[in-house]
Amino acid sequence: MERNIQEVLLTEAQIKDRIAELGEILSAEYRDKNPIIIGVMKGVVVFYADMIRKIAVPCEMDFMWISSYEGTDSTGSVIVKRDVSAEIKGRHVLILEDIFDTGNSLSFVYDHLMAKEPASLKICTLLDKPSRRKPGVTLKADYVGFTIPNAFVVGYGLDYNEYYRNLPYVGILKPEAYT
Ligand code: IMP
Ligand code: MG
Repeated sequence: MERNIQEVLLTEAQIKDRIAELGEILSAEYRDKNPIIIGVMKGVVVFYADMIRKIAVPCEMDFMWISSYEGTDSTGSVIVKRDVSAEIKGRHVLILEDIFDTGNSLSFVYDHLMAKEPASLKICTLLDKPSRRKPGVTLKADYVGFTIPNAFVVGYGLDYNEYYRNLPYVGILKPEAYT
């Protein structure tokens, strides 16, 4: 195990099994809807690559790149580094995210995409940390991989200052690794 990881929270096998379950649910939901699946970069890339291969219906891939997070503490402000390229008006859109934490990023992405008038807009997040939600955020994820406790996690796409994204599991970072 990577030396700065205190505990493996979700193993590769657990993640794989859950993605297979979500794949069945999403494939049923989006049958005949020709959805556009939008990944929020960069944290989602590993989840996206595994999840998309379990969505067994015709679909389009697209990405948004936003930035909102510095170190382990959200700055609260979100900027669009790259917008979606597809025309989403009138289309069924599914947002894929790595983690629903304070809700700042997802609320921003949701409102941003909603303004483009999709036929439907849903959210699938690999991880949900409801205990961290900012007061006033009423947004809910439609599909959640795992609800996790309030700990800073890395791996499987999630970073601390851009490192650890390549770990194949989700682990809790040792506090001394970021203090
Ligand atoms: P938000 O606080 O819900 O807006 O989350 C913003 C972004 O912060 C997420 O998309 C992640 O990229 C990042 N983030 C939140 N919690 C964690 C964590 O525990 N580990 C790594 N990144 C995180
Ligand atoms: Mg991040």
